[in-house]
Amino acid sequence: MRIVMIGTGYVGLVSGACFADFGHEVVCVDKDQSKIDALLNGEIPIFEPGLDELVAKNVAAGRLSFTLDLAEALPGTDAVFIAVGTPSRRGDGHADLSYVYAAAKEMAPLLPDGVVVVDKSTVPVGTGDEVERIIRETAPELQFSVASNPEFLREGAAIDDFKRPDRVVIGVNDEHAEKVLAEIYRPLTRNESPLVCMSRRGAELTKYAANAFLATKIGFINEIADLCEKVGADVRDVAKGIGLDSRIGNRFLMPGPGYGGSCFPKDTLALLKTGQDYEAPLRIVESVVASNDQRKRSMGRKVIQALGGGEQHGKTVAVLGLTFKANTDDMRDSPAISIVQALQDAGITVKAYDPEGMDQAAKVLSGVNYCGDAYEALDGADAAVIVTEWDTFRALDLDRVKGLLNTPVLVDLRNLYSRHDVEEHGFTYVAVGR
Ligand SMILES: NC(=O)c1ccc[n+]([C@@H]2O[C@H](COP(=O)([O-])OP(=O)(O)OC[C@H]3O[C@@H](n4cnc5c(N)ncnc54)[C@H](O)[C@@H]3O)[C@@H](O)[C@H]2O)c1
Repeated sequence: MRIVMIGTGYVGLVSGACFADFGHEVVCVDKDQSKIDALLNGEIPIFEPGLDELVAKNVAAGRLSFTLDLAEALPGTDAVFIAVGTPSRRGDGHADLSYVYAAAKEMAPLLPDGVVVVDKSTVPVGTGDEVERIIRETAPELQFSVASNPEFLREGAAIDDFKRPDRVVIGVNDEHAEKVLAEIYRPLTRNESPLVCMSRRGAELTKYAANAFLATKIGFINEIADLCEKVGADVRDVAKGIGLDSRIGNRFLMPGPGYGGSCFPKDTLALLKTGQDYEAPLRIVESVVASNDQRKRSMGRKVIQALGGGEQHGKTVAVLGLTFKANTDDMRDSPAISIVQALQDAGITVKAYDPEGMDQAAKVLSGVNYCGDAYEALDGADAAVIVTEWDTFRALDLDRVKGLLNTPVLVDLRNLYSRHDVEEHGFTYVAVGR
C-alpha cells in the first residue's frame, strides 16, 4: 500500500516508520522545515528508543521518505493519515482542531480517487464528519472515504506498542475504507492483534474514553495514597491487593506526582467539553481533572514540608527528573513544572537534572540551574526530590548522595526506594502513600 502521513511528530513518525517496516511505501509530510531537514539528514527530531534504527533501516530500503511538499507526496496514494497535533484550545479546553482542518483543506484538491483519509490524531466525536465536508466542498466529484484510526501508543515504548498493540481500533462508515485499513494492518492481524471495527464516531469516542479511564485509575490510586499516609497503610500493598483482581488489573496503579504529558491532560478536558456539548456531563472525569491539578501543586508543598515548611528563602532543592515520565523528552504538562514553580514561589533555588528532557524543560522553566548529572544537581542542595522514574535514579549511590547534600532529605515521588535502605543511610525519607 502507498501511505502518506501528514504530521511527522511522535505519532506520525513512529506510525510512518512502523508502516514502512511492515512493507508499505510511506511518505511523511510536515510543515516544519527544521524537522524535515533533520530527517533528511538522518537525524531524529524526538527522543524515542529504537526509532533512529527503524527510520534508518526503512529509509535505506527505499520504503520511507520525508517531504515538505504535499503535492509531491499525494499522487497514487491509497491512504492519507492525519497525525497533526490537537492541543487544548486556549480558554475553554476544547480540542483545537485547526491543524486537522487545515490539513484537510490542503489535501482536498490533490487527493486521488479512491483514497481513504484516516484520522489518527485524537479528535472529538464528529470531526470525521467535518473533515469529509471540507474535502467534499473543494472536490465535489472526488471518490473518497474518511475513517478514524485512533492511536494508543505510549511515548517511550512507542514502537513496541505500535507493533504489538492490545488492539487496533478502526472507525469506518463504508466497506472500502474497512478493506483498505484491514490491508494496511494485515501484518498485525496476522500476528493475532485484534482489529476492532466500529463506526467512525464510535472510534473517535473510544480514544477519549480509554484515556479518561486510565487517568481515572491514576487519580484514584493517588487519592488512596493520600489516605494511606493518613491511616498508616502502604499504598503498594493496597495497589497489589486490588490489582490482582482481574476485574481491576494491576497496571496504572502506581501512585506518583499526578499525570501529565501530551495526552491525558488535554484529552480529559476535551472529553468534558464533548460531554457538556451533548448534555451528558461526565462528573467522574471532572473530579479526576480537578484532583490531578491539585495534586501536582501539592507535591511542591510536600517537598517544602520535608524541609520544615513555610518560607524557605536561601534553600536549594535538587530536582531529579523533569519529563512527565521516563524514556521521553516530553515536558508537556509535566508535574515537574508545577513542582518547580511551587518551590521557586517559596524562595527555593532549584537545581535539576533530567537524562533527556533538559532542552525541552529550558523552554518552559526559567530560573533553574540545569546540571550535567544527578550528583552535580545534588551537590550543595538541602533536599533531593525524585520527580521522574528514570532508571538512572533507581540506584543512586546513597553514601555519595548524603555526602553531597547539606541535609540528607530525600523526597521520592515515584517510590523508587525502600524506606529501610534509605533511612539506614541516615536520610529523612518521604515517599508517596506509605
Ligand atoms: N504523543 C503521544 O504519545 C500520542 C499518543 C496517541 C495519540 N496522540 C495524538 O496524536 C496526535 C499527534 O500528536 P503528536 O504528539 O505526534 O504531535 P506533535 O506535535 O509531536 O506532531 C504534530 C506534527 O504535525 C505537524 N503539522 C501540523 N499541521 C500540519 C500540516 N497541515 N501539514 C503537515 N504537518 C503538520 C507539526 O509540524 C508537527 O510536527 C494528537 O492528536 C495526539 O493527541 C499522541
